[in-house]
Amino acid sequence: MNSKVALITGATSGIGLQTAVDLARLSFDIYITGRDSKRAESALEQINQVRSDAGKGYFIADFASRKSIEQATQNINDSISHIDVLVNNAGAAFGKKEMTEEGIEKTFAVNHLGPFIFTHALLPILLTNAKARIVNVASAAHYAANLRIDDVSNPVRYHPLKAYATSKLANILFTYKLSQKLQGRNISVNCLHPGVVKTRIGNKHTGILSGLAWSVFANFKGVSVEQGASASVFLASSKRAVEYNGMYFHRSEPRKSSALSYNADLQNALWHLGEDLTDIKQYL
Ligand SMILES: NC(=O)c1ccc[n+]([C@@H]2O[C@H](COP(=O)([O-])OP(=O)(O)OC[C@H]3O[C@@H](n4cnc5c(N)ncnc54)[C@H](OP(=O)(O)O)[C@@H]3O)[C@@H](O)[C@H]2O)c1
Repeated sequence: MNSKVALITGATSGIGLQTAVDLARLSFDIYITGRDSKRAESALEQINQVRSDAGKGYFIADFASRKSIEQATQNINDSISHIDVLVNNAGAAFGKKEMTEEGIEKTFAVNHLGPFIFTHALLPILLTNAKARIVNVASAAHYAANLRIDDVSNPVRYHPLKAYATSKLANILFTYKLSQKLQGRNISVNCLHPGVVKTRIGNKHTGILSGLAWSVFANFKGVSVEQGASASVFLASSKRAVEYNGMYFHRSEPRKSSALSYNADLQNALWHLGEDLTDIKQYL
């Protein structure tokens, strides 16, 4: 029997790498994306230590660059004919306002627009499958978020925690809208909060003090990456999860997300904003 194929974004560290390792252990063939080839090669080595030859390859994709994502998806479409599971895991937090080449604030670009473009380009492969799954890694940070369509891609006043929370609310709005659009198409789309997890996400693009605050918080409150990856692994692989679609999970338990995330007008508005900002004429 052919192995199932999982493609995991941002699998060069933290929750994504652990998800890749755990899915390899469950006999998935693994493809990953990373933004740095050395880190991607090292991740593949760790995946292959679990099961030799499980790590099938990596694709370089910087989610802060539309060009880079498009190049990656073209390479993926040229070299993989079949994907069972896409885990949209790559994510980042930025201590100060930074803009992409395309003029989008980076937290929104990397955490929301990147997966929006990436998923769109891979839908044809996913839809050839008998029962594909899309798993979006969101966060409980979204409960504190608001999202103003006229401000979100280039906020007048930038606040790092607000920008991060907003981008994670966007992950959930995207999940709900995409799952509706794909109704009846043999594919499920779910999202999750992995818990507070001991990773370096809060240290990479933040200042020394914020990084220190994150390290202290994550070390005291956080769970291990193994525990953090368990929800992604559950939604990607478990038989029970096959029944779920258009849902939010806290670790591996279904939960209600924020009231705002169910707002259909906001879901539609975010969807149209995504199409406008990415020049995707018709997503589906
Ligand atoms: N840690 C938590 O407590 C927590 C809680 C809720 C949700 N999450 C979510 O979990 C996901 C994984 O985060 P993590 O905690 O495991 O952090 P992490 O260890 O920093 O992993 C993030 C991954 O995304 C990649 N990435 C960052 N910026 C990127 C970019 N511009 N283009 C492409 N890839 C990029 C990173 O690549 P590099 O290895 O090159 O940095 C890494 O592979 C994120 O979506 C995050 O929002 C985390």
